[in-house]
Amino acid sequence: MNVFITGSTGFLGGEILMLLSKRDEIKKIYCLLRAENDTAADARLEKVFKLHGDFFDRNKVIPVIGNLSDDGMDQQLIANEQLKDVNVIIHSAANTSFAKIYDDVVKKVNLNGLQQILNWSKTLEHLETFTYVGTATIIGKGVTDRLIFEDESPSANSVHFVKYTYTKMMGELMIRETLPEDKILIVRPSIILGDSRARIPRSNVILWTLAAVNMLRLIPVRPAPKLDIISVDYAAYAIDALLFTKRNHTVYHISAGEHSCTTNLKLTEAIAPHFSDRPDFKFIPHKLLNQIKLWAKNKLPADAELHQHTEYLDYWHEVFEEKSQLRILFGGMDPYIEFINLGQVFDNKRLIEDTGINYPEPVHDYVQRCIDHLGNIDIMEGALDP
Ligand SMILES: NC(=O)c1ccc[n+]([C@@H]2O[C@H](COP(=O)([O-])OP(=O)(O)OC[C@H]3O[C@@H](n4cnc5c(N)ncnc54)[C@H](OP(=O)(O)O)[C@@H]3O)[C@@H](O)[C@H]2O)c1
Repeated sequence: MNVFITGSTGFLGGEILMLLSKRDEIKKIYCLLRAENDTAADARLEKVFKLHGDFFDRNKVIPVIGNLSDDGMDQQLIANEQLKDVNVIIHSAANTSFAKIYDDVVKKVNLNGLQQILNWSKTLEHLETFTYVGTATIIGKGVTDRLIFEDESPSANSVHFVKYTYTKMMGELMIRETLPEDKILIVRPSIILGDSRARIPRSNVILWTLAAVNMLRLIPVRPAPKLDIISVDYAAYAIDALLFTKRNHTVYHISAGEHSCTTNLKLTEAIAPHFSDRPDFKFIPHKLLNQIKLWAKNKLPADAELHQHTEYLDYWHEVFEEKSQLRILFGGMDPYIEFINLGQVFDNKRLIEDTGINYPEPVHDYVQRCIDHLGNIDIMEGALDP
């Protein structure tokens, strides 16, 4: 079997690549990545393998330079003779930014880029499976506080907080229009947070938000709604298992589900004892988010409800050099705060039944092994590029 993977320098794609590189059934793994030249491409892959001490077999893992933003990348791939025998495509690359200023790039990479890969995939004589790494959150913001099933998406009715989830939904539709059903595998992870193996993950995607919550302590979210979070190693393991199992479905949630989901409260309770020098976590109504933003601009009216939490405002004065940092932080966290307030849990029966893998370990348990790393994350860096 020969595999072509995109996004292997990323958080999830890197973990998928590691698992695939250990599989004897796979002869070659071609990795599409952005690089100036062959030396730089090799160095980028080497870095991915080095991070957790994995073995980089250059006879098996081969870089293919390409940028999903480039029109004409499909022709580049079609002209590449070594890719003619690819059987399995795993499209994990995406621009995952939630920031509005990146909307055009997000669209370009996630839709035009996907179209390029699809155009090429149609020319492959031996293509067996096109694996699309989607996201469970394409369900949108209209569905709250309940268990959600794979067949509910994509839906024309879904309303999206961010362009990113919209493009991921449209991506699924594009694939279905282009390829026959029996060649499609759509995997939809829920929220991927950190690594359950007590390792520093390949990237701090989303994990920075938990580090930010841990710093802020006063949080404008509901404590009780269920939260569907999995670790990156579980996500990769589940995708690898699906690739090598007899599948009864085209679409699978890769999620915590009812069995392993958490809540905002459980998650904060899990980390609280490790940072006992900080104020207790306190959940406040979401509507106070605007007051926090006003406070950070020195425009909070004297009679505003937020003043009831003066001890936290004093604490923020202590830990943030400038109030503008808080504005940046909440600006970056805005869409995440919306998501974790939704109470969405994604059913994972299909995954568990077809692969026989275990349910994931709940995040409030595995996060205990990420504590050291959590305290060291630069939250401003995450907020500036959410
Ligand atoms: N993280 C989550 O919580 C989550 C949840 C559900 C679904 N997903 C899905 O999982 C997939 C992987 O996400 P992730 O968290 O691993 O994201 P990530 O760490 O940001 O990785 C994104 C990958 O895409 C590549 N990429 C971006 N723009 C590109 C371009 N123009 N040309 C070529 N490659 C490009 C990046 O390459 P560079 O290294 O060159 O930037 C990187 O390898 C995505 O499809 C995402 O939608 C993620």
